Amino acid sequence: MAARAPGEDGNEAMKPIGIAADHGGFALKDEVIRVLEAEGYPVRDFGAHSLDVGDDYPDYIVPLARAVSRGEVARGIAICGSGVGASIAANKVPGVRAALVVDVFSAHQGVEDDDMNILCLGGRVCGPALLGDLVRAFLAARFSGAERHRRRLAKVAALENAAAAGRTAENREEKS
Ligand code: RB5
Repeated sequence: MAARAPGEDGNEAMKPIGIAADHGGFALKDEVIRVLEAEGYPVRDFGAHSLDVGDDYPDYIVPLARAVSRGEVARGIAICGSGVGASIAANKVPGVRAALVVDVFSAHQGVEDDDMNILCLGGRVCGPALLGDLVRAFLAARFSGAERHRRRLAKVAALENAAAAGRTAENREEKS
């Protein structure tokens, strides 16, 4: 299935919120799930399902990112120790617009202006009080759809498309 374009919310209200974390975000993941359930959001948990201090964040973050890109979940919340690795990994998946967020303004403005579809958090950084405010601000926000923001996102999407076309050309060269 093709990645969702900016502004295509894929009937978000009906779909679960996806969540994933490595060992650095494992404890915070449970806190986020508690917030989501208290707010009435259905949740799909991409793991880790048990604490393994040797696990690797791409193993959980990338399946979540693919589910967001395919529209299987409405949005995602990705957690590692700092939130940095989670955001780097998630943004490798076409159609994903992920960002590490540490303030409430960015949690909603990132959706309103940039159509952010994955919120990245640092399990070793984000406290429980801020966590709830960030998650609520992220999920309550909607992309404004303003022409200038669509224009900017189209430029970002063009990079993804060019990269995908380049890979296709490289594959063809390898085969010939
Ligand atoms: C794991 O120790 C840690 O590097 C990871 O959770 C994350 O913080 C990476 O950015």
